[in-house]
Amino acid sequence: MDSTAVLLLLTVTAGTLLHALGTESVTALYGETIVVPCNDGAPAPEDLMFVKWKYEKDDGTPGDLLIQQARSSEATVQATDQYAPRVSIDQKLSLRITQASLRDQKTFTCMVVSGSNLMEYPVTVSVCKEPSSVQIVDRSAALQKDRATAVGTCVAADAHPAATITWKKNGKPLVADGKTVLITPSMKLDPASGLSTTSSTLQYAASKEDNVSVFSCMSTHQLTNQEAELEPFPIHYPSEKVSLQVVSKTPVVEGDNVTLKCHADGNPPPSSFVFHVKGHKVVGEADTYTLTSISREAEGEYKCTLADDENMEASHTIVVSYLDLSLTPSGTVRKAIGDSFSVKVEQSSSGVAHVLWTKDGQEVRQPEFSWLTYADAGVYVCELSMPGLTRHRSVELMVEGKPEITGLNKHRPVGASYKVLTCEATGVPEPSFHWSVNSTNEESSYINGKATHTISVIPRQNLTVACSASNRLGDDTLTINVSSVFKEEKEEKGSKEESEDQSKLIVGGVAGLLIAAAVVGLVYWLYMKNSRQGSWKTGEKEVGTSEESKKLEENQPTV
Ligand SMILES: *[C@@H]1O[C@H](CO)[C@@H](O)[C@H](O)[C@H]1NC(C)=O
Ligand SMILES: *[C@@H]1O[C@H](CO)[C@@H](O)[C@H](O)[C@H]1NC(C)=O
Ligand SMILES: *[C@@H]1O[C@H](CO)[C@@H](O)[C@H](O)[C@H]1NC(C)=O
Ligand SMILES: *[C@@H]1O[C@H](CO)[C@@H](O)[C@H](O)[C@H]1NC(C)=O
Ligand SMILES: *[C@@H]1O[C@H](CO)[C@@H](O)[C@H](O)[C@H]1NC(C)=O
Repeated sequence: MDSTAVLLLLTVTAGTLLHALGTESVTALYGETIVVPCNDGAPAPEDLMFVKWKYEKDDGTPGDLLIQQARSSEATVQATDQYAPRVSIDQKLSLRITQASLRDQKTFTCMVVSGSNLMEYPVTVSVCKEPSSVQIVDRSAALQKDRATAVGTCVAADAHPAATITWKKNGKPLVADGKTVLITPSMKLDPASGLSTTSSTLQYAASKEDNVSVFSCMSTHQLTNQEAELEPFPIHYPSEKVSLQVVSKTPVVEGDNVTLKCHADGNPPPSSFVFHVKGHKVVGEADTYTLTSISREAEGEYKCTLADDENMEASHTIVVSYLDLSLTPSGTVRKAIGDSFSVKVEQSSSGVAHVLWTKDGQEVRQPEFSWLTYADAGVYVCELSMPGLTRHRSVELMVEGKPEITGLNKHRPVGASYKVLTCEATGVPEPSFHWSVNSTNEESSYINGKATHTISVIPRQNLTVACSASNRLGDDTLTINVSSVFKEEKEEKGSKEESEDQSKLIVGGVAGLLIAAAVVGLVYWLYMKNSRQGSWKTGEKEVGTSEESKKLEENQPTV
């Protein structure tokens, strides 16, 4: 077992005091009390007279410290220098010096004077101190790939003897190789305390995988080993590949907003790029460049390069789909019935486009008419489509014509005392109707160029009613004979509901008959008188019918 090992063992067990058993050296801790044993702590001789401690000054001359008389309880301090307040002696005659400093590293001698002998026991004192701190300063923010970059500086401060520093990566010691690992040590001695501050700067050429590496530094000292650790560093490296992304729906259609987004794989990712639009440099916004409402002329090759390295580039060819469609004529077209009509389609597109014609949601052929009818009127929509792109154009066809009355009818609803007249006419624009009679309950409808107009009339006599339909293109008229409702009532329902006039007529008839009967009665009376007298003779039959005779007989009394 060598002395150092024993010393360390005692450090652990005895705390602040380190003995050098059987030798002439003692190691003390900086700042603590130094205990220098006399004669290795052996008991003093029986005939001890006194013990004196002295030390060797830097110039080699002896310096007195204190004297302990054998029969005195108090020691006499002889020192007059800085040791005066710091020295004392214990019961084992060991010298105690408080506040150990490096200046106390000297040889202290215990002089034992007895009646029979004078012995000197020199002891060499050394003072040691562990680093007050071990830390890494000037820590780098990031490491460069493949380029030796300062990782940081490890500082073990105020130690004695000087601590040694070693660097580790992921727990394994780093050995300076002048290329990947560069270690620059330095040491500083504090002139006042004599303590050493050891520093070591590590430079390291990282790889991408070092983004997870943990660098640490280890301070090795006889008293203690300390370690300081660093969080993993981001690894910076230049871009090796640039890519250009086109942010848009596909296909790119004329009018779309297209955003070019440039990306490079370096770390940190480059934020500044130069965009080249068909050979011209343009200024984008950081990593994007936006083409607002792209036109077909903007089709072509787009590039982006790194702002600081134009050789790093990416390119993308943008194809712009477009579709043009126009109809001739377009808008609203007015045509007369019987006219011809056709539509010319002009189209241009970046690819194969499909044409579809519809009218009122129904698929139809492209409008082409040699003789227009009202039914041909409507909105014709032409749809031109390509993948991702559709165009619509429409033409509204109006077929116009002057009114033509197609029907004029009458009917009498069951039990009604009026007649309903219906006049039907074709014509565009919508015809307006005019009747030659006053009417009520006018109703009209107009669908697909066909107008129907109905009225109710109460004809008091036989009427010839005219219906005329007109629009700005012309008019048409048709008449119908309508018999009096009163006449029809008599025919249909007999004398029950005879009109006043007819009653008068009948009354007049009866009066006539009565007069006739009176005349006949007078003649008959004259005849009878004559036949009695024989002066009036006739061979004819009786006048009138048997019915008339009956009537005469019936009426005779009233005369
Ligand atoms: C470290 O880099 C690797 C690629 O080299 C990557 O996959 C991983 O996510 C990175 N880890 C961290 C913590 O950045
Ligand atoms: C395109 O961008 C402009 C302005 O940035 C915006 O007004 C317009 O609505 C965008 N168009 C489309 C189709 O997103
Ligand atoms: C319709 O009635 C008005 C009075 O209401 C009258 O003046 C006009 O003559 C009548 N017309 C016909 C055709 O009966
Ligand atoms: C009215 O017309 C009917 C036939 O519809 C005819 O029998 C009648 O004599 C006409 N009356 C008059 C007053 O003209
Ligand atoms: C309507 O009556 C007139 C005579 O009042 C006659 O001349 C004409 O032919 C009749 N018209 C129709 C359609 O019956």
